[in-house]
Amino acid sequence: MSTPRPVLVVDFGAQYAQLIARRVREAKVYSEIVPHSMPVAEMLAKDPAAIILSGGPASVYAPGAPQVDAKLFDAGVPVFGICYGFQAMARALGGTVAHTGDREYGGTVLATRPDASVLLRDLPGEVSVWMSHGDCVTEAPPGFAVTAGTTVTPVAAFEDVAGRRAGVQFHPEVAHTAHGQEMLTRFLYDIAGIEPTWTMGNIIDDQVAAIREQVGEKEVICALSGGVDSAVAAALVHKAVGDQLTCVFVDHGLLRAGEAEQVEQDYVAATGIKLKVVDAADRFLGALAGVTDPEEKRKIIGREFIRVFEVAAREVAAAGDVEFLVQGTLYPDVVESGGGTGTANIKSHHNVGGLPDDLRFSLVEPLRTLFKDEVRQLGLSLGLPEAMVWRHPFPGPGLAIRIIGAVSSDRLELLRAADLIAREELTAAGLDRSVWQFPVVLLADVRSVGVQGDGRTYGHPIVLRPVSSEDAMTADWSRLPYDVIARISTRITNEVPEVNRVVLDVTSKPPGTIEWE
Ligand code: XMP
Repeated sequence: MSTPRPVLVVDFGAQYAQLIARRVREAKVYSEIVPHSMPVAEMLAKDPAAIILSGGPASVYAPGAPQVDAKLFDAGVPVFGICYGFQAMARALGGTVAHTGDREYGGTVLATRPDASVLLRDLPGEVSVWMSHGDCVTEAPPGFAVTAGTTVTPVAAFEDVAGRRAGVQFHPEVAHTAHGQEMLTRFLYDIAGIEPTWTMGNIIDDQVAAIREQVGEKEVICALSGGVDSAVAAALVHKAVGDQLTCVFVDHGLLRAGEAEQVEQDYVAATGIKLKVVDAADRFLGALAGVTDPEEKRKIIGREFIRVFEVAAREVAAAGDVEFLVQGTLYPDVVESGGGTGTANIKSHHNVGGLPDDLRFSLVEPLRTLFKDEVRQLGLSLGLPEAMVWRHPFPGPGLAIRIIGAVSSDRLELLRAADLIAREELTAAGLDRSVWQFPVVLLADVRSVGVQGDGRTYGHPIVLRPVSSEDAMTADWSRLPYDVIARISTRITNEVPEVNRVVLDVTSKPPGTIEWE
C-alpha cells in the first residue's frame, strides 16, 4: 500500500501512544505506533520522517524500565521525546535525570522562553500543561537549549534545532495542556521539516489505488452491519471497483428504530452500491426464544449470522468470481492485536472466518491504517448520510443484549420505542456528540408498582445509560442536563406502554460495563 513516510510513535507501554499518533494525524502527518521493543534497525527500515518517544512508566531508573538505544540518535532522523521519552532521550544523549523526590501530577504552570525556542515560539510566557512524573531532567544534554521549566522541574523542555531534536516533560497530546497541538505541529513542521500531506483527498486516492491493485478484475463481497466502519469500508471499495462489489445486509431484527431503513434506503441512495438484503428477523427471534444468558444470546446470534451470510455469499458467488471480502478493521484493532501485518482481527459475532473452506475469501481492509475520527471524516468525504457517519457505537448482537431477560418481538418493540425517544431528545438538545454511547436498557424480568392515570400499574423499568469515553475501555456516566433526562423520562412513561419507571445509571466503567446485558 502506498502510505507516506511515517512518523513513528514509540510506545513505552502507557496509554498515551495512540493519542499522540492521533494528534500527529490531526496535523495532517501520517503516523504509526511501534513497540519500544522493536530494534532500531527495524524502525529505520520504515524510513521514518521522525520518531516520537512517548510517555511510559514513572521512572527511567525503575527495574526493567525500557531504555532508548542510542543508535536511534545516530541516524539523523528527527526525534521528539515526551515525558518518559524526554527523560530517556536526556539520559541517552548525556544529560542528567534525577530522583528529586518531587512529584508533579496534573495541571502545572510552565514558564517558557518563547523567544529562545522554535517549539514554543509565539506562545505566552506562562502556559498551563499536564504533568505526570516523578523523576526529572536536571541538566539538558550537550548542544540542547533549555526553553521551559516549572517550579519543580528545572528542565521541562529542550531543543537542538540544528540536530532536529526536541523534548518536553509534560504531555502536549492531552487536552489539558494549553497549546499542546501547536507544540506538536511546530516539531513536525519546523523542526522535523515534514509537509502536511495526510489529507482526506490523499487518503482516498491512495486507498482507491491500493484496492484496485489488490482486487484487479475480481468480485468483492461485504457484510454491512449498519455501523460506521463497514459502511465506510464498503463505500471506499465501491469507489475503487464499482459494481465488482456486492454488499450483503443481514437484518437480524435487533437494530434500533429506523436503522435497517438507513442502510437499505439512505446508504444505497448515497453510494449507488449493489445491496442484497436478507430479512432474517424471524429466524433470529426463533433461535433466541426463551434464552436469557447474554453469552448464549451472543453465540446464537453469531451462529445464525454465519448461516444466513453463508447462503447469501453462495448466491453472490454463484453469479461471479468472488475472491475478496471487505472488513472494516481499524488501526486501533491492528495495534491492540499487536501486529502491523498479521491476520485480521475478526469480531466474534461477525465471525466470517467460520465460513466453510469452499467459501474462504482474501480480506480487503481499507481502514487498517485509520483511526475512528478519520473513518468518520472519510465517510463524510465519500458522501455518506451524516446520521450514519455519526452513529454511536452499537453492539453487533444489538438490542438482544439490551433486553435483560428473554428476547421477544413485543419486548423489542417496547425497547425500540423507548430508545427512539432517548435518541430524539438527545439530538434535540444538541448533545449527540457529547456522549460516546447511550444504551437504553429494558429490565424485562423486573416489575415494580406505579400509578399512571387513575390506576395502579405493575410495569417494567427502563435504564438510561449515557456514557462518555475515549475508547470504550473505560467510561464515565455522562452528566446530561437534568431537564433533558426529565423530558426523556416523562416521554417514555407517557408514550411507551408497560413502562412505569425510568432510572439513570450513574456507574463508571470500571466497575460497571457500558452494556447491561
Ligand atoms: P462493555 O459493555 O464491555 O462494552 O463496556 C464496550 C464496548 O463494546 C460494545 N459491545 C459489543 N460490541 N459485540 C460488539 O460488537 C458485542 O457483543 C458487544 N458487547 C459490548 C459496547 O457497546 C461498547 O461500545
